[in-house]
Amino acid sequence: MPANPTVLTSKPEWQTLKEHRERLDGTPMTELFRQDPERAKRYYIEAAGLSLDFSKNRITDEVLEALLALASSCNLEARREALLQGERVNVTEDRPALHTALRNPGTDTIMVDGQDVVAEVQRTLARMETLVNGVLSGSRTGYTGKPFTDVVSIGIGGSYLGPKLVGEALQPYGQSGVPCHYVANIDGTEICETLRQVNPETTLFLIQSKSFRTQETLENSKVARRWFLEHCGDEQAISRHFMSVTANVPAARDFGIDPDNVFPMWDWVGGRYSLWSAIGLPIALTVGMANFRALLAGAHAMDQHFREAPLHQNLPVVMAMLGVWYNNFWGAETHAILPYDHYLRSLPDHLQQLDMESNGKSVTQDGKNLVWQSGPVIWGGVGANGQHAYHQLIHQGTRLIPADFIIPLQTHNPVATHHADLFANCLSQSRAMMAGKSLEEAKAELAAEGRSEAEIEQLAPHKVIPGNKPSNTLTMEKVTPETVGALIALYEHRTFVQGVIWDLDSFDQWGVELGKQLGKSILPRLLGQEAGDRASDSSTDHLIELFLSASG
Ligand code: F6P
Repeated sequence: MPANPTVLTSKPEWQTLKEHRERLDGTPMTELFRQDPERAKRYYIEAAGLSLDFSKNRITDEVLEALLALASSCNLEARREALLQGERVNVTEDRPALHTALRNPGTDTIMVDGQDVVAEVQRTLARMETLVNGVLSGSRTGYTGKPFTDVVSIGIGGSYLGPKLVGEALQPYGQSGVPCHYVANIDGTEICETLRQVNPETTLFLIQSKSFRTQETLENSKVARRWFLEHCGDEQAISRHFMSVTANVPAARDFGIDPDNVFPMWDWVGGRYSLWSAIGLPIALTVGMANFRALLAGAHAMDQHFREAPLHQNLPVVMAMLGVWYNNFWGAETHAILPYDHYLRSLPDHLQQLDMESNGKSVTQDGKNLVWQSGPVIWGGVGANGQHAYHQLIHQGTRLIPADFIIPLQTHNPVATHHADLFANCLSQSRAMMAGKSLEEAKAELAAEGRSEAEIEQLAPHKVIPGNKPSNTLTMEKVTPETVGALIALYEHRTFVQGVIWDLDSFDQWGVELGKQLGKSILPRLLGQEAGDRASDSSTDHLIELFLSASG
């Protein structure tokens, strides 16, 4: 039977890429650099305040061309327009995914179900501004008339990771803001430790939940409410201290939140794409509304670039296709995110949810089993710390781990030669990943140390570093609201492009629901209420018995 050219792996572009992979197998990147002195300049893109050096990848011009041809053959340009124009790209939930409308400066009209969502976003931003200015100026106070000194944001997943990342990233911009504490987990320690640090008279609680149904968020919110009432004793005061961002206004009202204190979410915004909405209130309260708007502007600049730049100069597209290259043609199973900046330390956590909840799927948009790999494991951590932990495996382990190094050219905190030291560490890692160390080099090094022949033979193989490990280096002038906005939007679009290639619905997350459902049947048994369904396996039953015996 002839291959079906509409199926990804049967496309001629896919076959071409397989041939390129065979051909490139014996050519190290160092050789490609030797052949082309302009390589670093040619494999370089600047957009929206970010710069990408992608020269340390296993690519040639032909590979790049073939990768972009594959993207076009998957109708990337049309799918991109469908996303940006608000078509129902989330097919299983029959919704648009319009996070880009959240950072539209108000210049466009995007209609969803007869409503201009851009206008709705602008109205919500104005409401956020009133609240933020009131809190930061001290004109909006707690029940005893004192200004707010702390915000406690209660939310999980997308209602937590993005705001936390950005709140930390923009710490230098928070001088006149109110610090925010984040509570996510259904682990009593987190809420208890947080409440120990704050004063009920001067704390504003934000309940962040698109669905207002998430167990962790609701249970933590109940504890916070109880704690608040124990101290203040006046139900009326709840309306001054508790606010919510949700698409489920009736549930928020039933919880006791004054509808005037509810900020909207919309079903056309996915949780992991929601930091740009009122879910970003903790950010705005920490850094002020002007900086929040600058964050949106940075993301919008990336949206414009994604929409308009030709594919070969398109930052998200090029990064996405490099990911496809390693994921589907070189057997890479993971992708490392390595920010060399303390302010960006939570970027890997946010990108884990963004990427793995979006592209951790096994069927195509029309429900057929995938016969190609979908999204890789995303992991990572801040450099240089990781160099003293997991970089060993990147350098000498048996797996191929492509990495993104992310570093600002300037620091907010110049001290001694730290920033040059940090930068040198970052560059030395990407260089070591690519260049490695040959057996001959290892032997020569040992000989120079005066080692005996026997020692050299014994030790040299352990010192060999294979090299030829690919990486991207993303830089920005400084970590600012604009560059942070552009950086996160870049990864959102990278995720989208890969979802298009793999033919996934990148905007649903049905896998997460199973754990929630099973949790509902196990909890009653832990609470000694036999009404819960019996678990069907002896391991779960045994662990439940252990829990019950420990709790008497
Ligand atoms: O973890 C699953 C999930 O549904 C995420 O997609 C979402 O960001 C998170 O839970 C929180 O959901 P909600 O904002 O509705 O509380």
